Amino acid sequence: MHVNAPWWRSAVIYQIYIRSFADANGDGIGDIAGIRSRLPYLRDLGVDAVWITPWYPSPMADGGYDVADYLDIDPMFGTLSDADALIGDAHDHGLKVIIDIVPNHTSDRHVWFQAALAAGPGSPERDRYVFRTGRGADGELPPNDWRSTFGGAAWTRVPDGEWYLHLFAPEQPDLNWENPEVRAEFERVLAFWFDRGVDGFRIDVAHGLIKQDGLPDLGGEGEDVLEPSMRLDHPHWDRDGVHEIYRGWRRVADRYDGDRTFVAEAWVATPERLARYLRPDELQTAFNFDYLRASWDAANLRSVIDESLAAFALEDAPATWVLSNHDVVRHVTRYGRSDTGGRGPQGDVEEPVDLELGTRRARAAAMLMLALPGGAYVYQGEELGLPEVEDLPESALQDPVWERSGHTSRGRDGCRVPIPWSGDGEPYGFGPDGSTPWLPQPESWKGYSAEAEAGDPASMLELYRSALRLRHERAALGDGGLTWDDDAPEGVLRFTRAPGFACVVNLSGTPYQLSADAEVLLASGPLDGGLLPTDTAAWLAVSD
Ligand code: NOJ
Ligand code: CA
Repeated sequence: MHVNAPWWRSAVIYQIYIRSFADANGDGIGDIAGIRSRLPYLRDLGVDAVWITPWYPSPMADGGYDVADYLDIDPMFGTLSDADALIGDAHDHGLKVIIDIVPNHTSDRHVWFQAALAAGPGSPERDRYVFRTGRGADGELPPNDWRSTFGGAAWTRVPDGEWYLHLFAPEQPDLNWENPEVRAEFERVLAFWFDRGVDGFRIDVAHGLIKQDGLPDLGGEGEDVLEPSMRLDHPHWDRDGVHEIYRGWRRVADRYDGDRTFVAEAWVATPERLARYLRPDELQTAFNFDYLRASWDAANLRSVIDESLAAFALEDAPATWVLSNHDVVRHVTRYGRSDTGGRGPQGDVEEPVDLELGTRRARAAAMLMLALPGGAYVYQGEELGLPEVEDLPESALQDPVWERSGHTSRGRDGCRVPIPWSGDGEPYGFGPDGSTPWLPQPESWKGYSAEAEAGDPASMLELYRSALRLRHERAALGDGGLTWDDDAPEGVLRFTRAPGFACVVNLSGTPYQLSADAEVLLASGPLDGGLLPTDTAAWLAVSD
């Protein structure tokens, strides 16, 4: 246990996907004023912080992860003074604010990239990006065999014949992090926002940035669309050179008071590789995607939890836990199919989804996650139990993955549908009546609105509220350790945390008898006398 631990060691952080959270002006797109209007909801939910996805000026080729100006706000979302007001309001509500920083690539509309195109081969402007001549007799072939995460080649040719690298969409040219000007500029960007009062940054593609010298071929290894590579010594992911960059960023954060922090989005091959980002002079926290991808199976969950805790402990860093975000299939849907592992298929799936099963498991999964040591992330709408929207009409799809994959992957729009706040039909209070959300909302969402769920003891919203309240009340539910009960039957996860707390999750096929002296603090579903049914979790007050 860390005495006087900084907030980020055990915070529950609510992810706001800004386009889909709340639309104040009725143009169909979420905005800063919308977020401000919903801060009381977040305070009452009981989270400690918000992470807001990119709000910078952007042509939106990749939902804002194509940044044209890191020092401003897109007019679609508001203004810099709206951002200042939001940061102030959030602090007044007791909420910390984390914003997204996108260092691997800019938008192709960024002034730097426009200057690079204009200045031509060999220029200092081009050196801020990764331009190369092509292969083949006339340079007509890409410089190497790297693939874009969204499908297709990672290279695009410009009219003068050179090619530029983009590990994501062509509208997202990769920066050259060997160039000192790039490094200096991003430290300036961090300071700009720290000065405005943000409490931290979520670092997009933190495992990118540095590319192996000479840009060697991958060797024909076909990388699947959106699937992170699990290869060690990869030519463009998780290169050791990234760490020097984060040491510099840490020095910037440490100039400020108030426990400013970072969270790395790093898809890396092993938990030990992830821990390297968390060395004492680097980043404080990182997303734990192994947990997100773990299948709903007791032995598997336990080993992922143990491996995660061991790896984070290597650097005395807090563990983090996450089940959903704006890039993966919502977990109610993932858990409602036979294959519960991975980030979920973003294509045509033949197997129908059992939402009742998925929801039951999601309720238990939330209680497990919120009982584990360290911090946790809640993706907007998961507290309402929203399922993935898998039947968006093709004409509505906006994720670049849909086009780039040659229509083989529908992409990530199904987890990005604007969330329902109230009412019986579109826009469900997401925007003013009569407005049209940027993605269509299903008719079946009537029962999922925050208004419909509030006060209903059986709802997902009330489960999250109760769990988060208990998390604050119970001293055991912070940044301490856990002890597994090895006598629990196969398929039952049971652990204790001092003082006086136990969490039990039944993933076996048979009801599990809770001990008679345990006081049930919260359960994810109805108990059958003293029996904990399958796919149900309980929090207990126990004696140490
Ligand atoms: C990860 C973000 O979460 C995702 O939405 C985005 O497409 C890529 N990084 C590229 O920036
Ligand atoms: Ca709006």
